Amino acid sequence: MDQNAMKALVAKEALHYIEDGMTLGVGSGSTVNCFIEALGAARLQFAEIVTASEESTRRLQALGYRVSDLNAVGRLDVYVDGCDEINPLKAMIKGGGAALTREKVTAACAAKFVCIIDETKQVPVLGRFPLPVEVVPMARSFVARELVKLGGEPRWREGVVTDNGNWILDVHHLEITEPFKLEETINNIPGVVTNGIFARQSADVVLTAYASGKVKIS
Ligand code: 5RP
Repeated sequence: MDQNAMKALVAKEALHYIEDGMTLGVGSGSTVNCFIEALGAARLQFAEIVTASEESTRRLQALGYRVSDLNAVGRLDVYVDGCDEINPLKAMIKGGGAALTREKVTAACAAKFVCIIDETKQVPVLGRFPLPVEVVPMARSFVARELVKLGGEPRWREGVVTDNGNWILDVHHLEITEPFKLEETINNIPGVVTNGIFARQSADVVLTAYASGKVKIS
């Protein structure tokens, strides 16, 4: 089974965590796009549905779903999203699609974070995937210099503007052995909006699809 097939498989598996009438949060990315397709095919209806990206909103609306503003919704029952890397303690790197800030906020509102991945996302130590950091545009150079002091090699994702109007620095060559600590340290740099380490907002349930066609629940 190739990676796209694994994504479709695990997206369908996530439907076991969803019920009619729930308040649902939907993340972003290609695995989540498969999940959105699966929702549409299952014809599930929700009390409220909110998303972490304009792209996911557009896809849901195209299927006839009404998408609410998070400010108008209370607690979410479940948040479903993918990730770029995950370690054995379920801490993650997210933000490959530049939606990390809205993803972290939406995940924080949810009672349960169901993470859907294929086996390629599993790593012993986070950091092989460059860590996305969302910055306010005028702080880009300053934040980059601070990230160099932390041992990283930040590269500006030129041409990309987040849904919040900000920019992304991708930090290469970090070996993230203490995700909690680094998440906090980077968030404390003035000009950083969010970084893509999800240690505090780690996943509650991880569904992992394997090339063999199996799905592991952890
Ligand atoms: C977007 C994300 C995505 O969850 C992450 O990039 C995984 O994407 P994909 O499912 O396409 O591999 O964090 O900001």
